[in-house]
Amino acid sequence: MAAGAKLNNAPKLVHLTVDGKSLEAREGEPLLQAMLNAGLDIPHYCYHPKLTIDGSCRLCQVRIEGVPKLQISCNTPVRDGMVVHASDPEVALARRGVEELLLLNHPLDCPICDKAGECWLQNYAMRFGSRFARTRDPRRKEEKRIDIGERMLLDQERCILCRRCVRFCREISKTGELHIFHLGDRSVLDTYDRPLNNDYSMCTADICPVGALETKDFHHKIRVWFLEETASVCPSCSNGCNIMLCTYKNRIWRLIPRRNDAVNEAWMCDAGRLNYGFVMDPARLRTPQAAEADKLVETDWEVAVARAATELNAFRKKYGGKALGAVVSPHLTNEENYRFSELMRALGIERRAMAVPRGKFDNFLIKPEKAANARGARELGLVSGNDDGLGELLNACETGEIKGLYLCGDDILQVADPKRLGPCLERMEVLIAHSLWQRPLLAKASVIFPTTSFAEKDGTFTNHAGRVQRIRKALQLPAGWLTDGEVFTGILNHLESRDERFELPYIWESMTQNGTAFAGLRFDEIDPNGAPLQESD
Ligand code: FES
Repeated sequence: MAAGAKLNNAPKLVHLTVDGKSLEAREGEPLLQAMLNAGLDIPHYCYHPKLTIDGSCRLCQVRIEGVPKLQISCNTPVRDGMVVHASDPEVALARRGVEELLLLNHPLDCPICDKAGECWLQNYAMRFGSRFARTRDPRRKEEKRIDIGERMLLDQERCILCRRCVRFCREISKTGELHIFHLGDRSVLDTYDRPLNNDYSMCTADICPVGALETKDFHHKIRVWFLEETASVCPSCSNGCNIMLCTYKNRIWRLIPRRNDAVNEAWMCDAGRLNYGFVMDPARLRTPQAAEADKLVETDWEVAVARAATELNAFRKKYGGKALGAVVSPHLTNEENYRFSELMRALGIERRAMAVPRGKFDNFLIKPEKAANARGARELGLVSGNDDGLGELLNACETGEIKGLYLCGDDILQVADPKRLGPCLERMEVLIAHSLWQRPLLAKASVIFPTTSFAEKDGTFTNHAGRVQRIRKALQLPAGWLTDGEVFTGILNHLESRDERFELPYIWESMTQNGTAFAGLRFDEIDPNGAPLQESD
């Protein structure tokens, strides 16, 4: 290359016309994608932007000037100067023909199909299809509700053979469980030599345009048109897959992936998708507990905050902040952890640690750290070291250097050896804890606050790669409930006679001004796909 020549990797842009409208597209990209990107509503079944092109459904046909026959737009690369007709009578007739063919053998069991309301066969049949069937032949009978895996059901009658699920298993999960067997109108979708049990198996239900693949978790639970969707982030590992929380009557009915090409493309793992039951668990701690005459009794939120502040203040006066330790939580938001850092500073706490549960991982989405915001806590400088300071903190508890502990979550109860942790916690003169459940190991606590789940609060998580992403409140909390950030704020207000509130824009402003890794990020720029932390020099 000549000296001074610049590399230019930007894709070449071409111009085309669709139904009289000028579009700009990247040279060579599928015509269907170019039209979808331009906001045109082009019907399609088998095309999926994250899978190879199959061209099997024929619904995306368009007329291209200079080409004698209709073309499927998903398998036609855009060319400069193309003139396309996507809604003329010839195209409409072809679409209607495709719909009629697909409905020829369809069982029309929409009233008992989970997909009804978000089914593209239903939607397009209403828009382009004929209102009556011309065939008198009986509809094909195939197997229904076949148990094809731990989490999946298959209805062969509903399948329209678009092969999205087959390609997903070959190209994304790379497990190849699903195939189309036989030919012509005898073709059926089925598993071959093993059940559909891969770690991402439930994504096949998301991409199935009809109700052929259903998850057992959502089967016959609720009609989809009742569900409200809230954009958030999966809390189950540090990947931070983007999700929609689907709720109705203040409970979660399902989690589904939300597309973010920088994080999870269009997928999420089954383990993360199924990890929401704990939010509605009736055994969850719902009322603060405070020690009275050697046992824990239920108390009011404000009373619990005042009690925690009084105990911490008395302890600080007696021993100084150095005798207090803290375990920060990888489940709390960046904003909550920032507020907790202010509380630690006020109390003079220097010894801190974080307990992060670890588990199964792969080289795709599933990460070993089973919490969404461990990196956020590290970026705020709350913890450091190989094990996030946990070993050192436990040593200090054992030697008696630490006589009081503030636990921001209950992960330490899973991570640390209970034989070691139990005596440490028993020895503490003051023990303040935030927990999802009443735990025997917390029996000697001074105060326990019920912790707030990811679905019940607003804020941000920082994923393993340093991408800061919004989580949103989808469920209402009982009146008077204080989130973890509000508890920290309440204790700080008692200790320092302040009157602050836990408000995200205010916390965010302080976080970005105080030299944290979040400096340079703006809260309103985080949506919808998150924003990366700036690299430190
Ligand atoms: Fe083009 Fe199916 S979407 S043929």
